[in-house]
Amino acid sequence: MERSLSILQLIALFLLPYLFSHNLANTTTDLKTDESSLLAFKSHITNDSSHTTLGKNWTTKTSVCNWIGVTCGSRNYRVIALNISYMFLEGTIPPHIGNLSFLVSLDITGNRFHGDLPEELAHLRRLRVLNFVLIK
Ligand SMILES: *[C@@H]1O[C@H](CO)[C@@H](O)[C@H](O)[C@H]1NC(C)=O
Ligand SMILES: *[C@@H]1O[C@H](CO)[C@@H](O)[C@H](O)[C@H]1NC(C)=O
Ligand SMILES: *[C@@H]1O[C@H](CO)[C@@H](O)[C@H](O)[C@H]1NC(C)=O
Ligand SMILES: *[C@@H]1O[C@H](CO)[C@@H](O)[C@H](O)[C@H]1NC(C)=O
Ligand SMILES: *[C@@H]1O[C@H](CO)[C@@H](O)[C@H](O)[C@H]1NC(C)=O
Repeated sequence: MERSLSILQLIALFLLPYLFSHNLANTTTDLKTDESSLLAFKSHITNDSSHTTLGKNWTTKTSVCNWIGVTCGSRNYRVIALNISYMFLEGTIPPHIGNLSFLVSLDITGNRFHGDLPEELAHLRRLRVLNFVLIK
């Protein structure tokens, strides 16, 4: 009994770091997807009149999870909410938004986006809140 346990423990000792690093690598990869989705979003903003905001803040120098208006989940560390309401941004919403696969809440109210909402939004199966009352 004791022996078989210690063999299991030995296996676990060798396997765990492997599984752990594998998972970590994947988390990073997935957060990179979120990052590139949001950078695409930013590149479609033509007039960031509030200056302060996305232009200077949404950079690869810091994790997406520290960006203004972005909230990450505490467990899986993916972007779960985007709230950029009343930033008076102009531009269009690119299809890349549909790659934020863990997004639950999207609030783009109070901006001057034009064009249609991309149909890729329908890919967001976890999306529960969508506020997009735009201004002129
Ligand atoms: C992420 O996981 C998938 C399978 O779950 C695997 O095929 C892929 O190689 C992993 N990626 C990295 C960077 O480890
Ligand atoms: C950008 O937005 C500001 C504030 O809404 C406006 O005053 C300015 O004319 C806009 N600039 C361009 C190039 O559209
Ligand atoms: C972006 O804004 C957040 C929240 O205000 C702040 O904590 C962070 O330091 C800012 N990052 C940069 C690079 O300005
Ligand atoms: C987004 O942020 C604004 C201002 O902080 C807040 O009033 C609004 O309720 C937020 N939207 C969502 C969906 O949480
Ligand atoms: C995100 O979505 C766009 C358009 O929907 C697609 O072309 C692109 O390859 C995707 N990017 C990633 C990193 O998955």
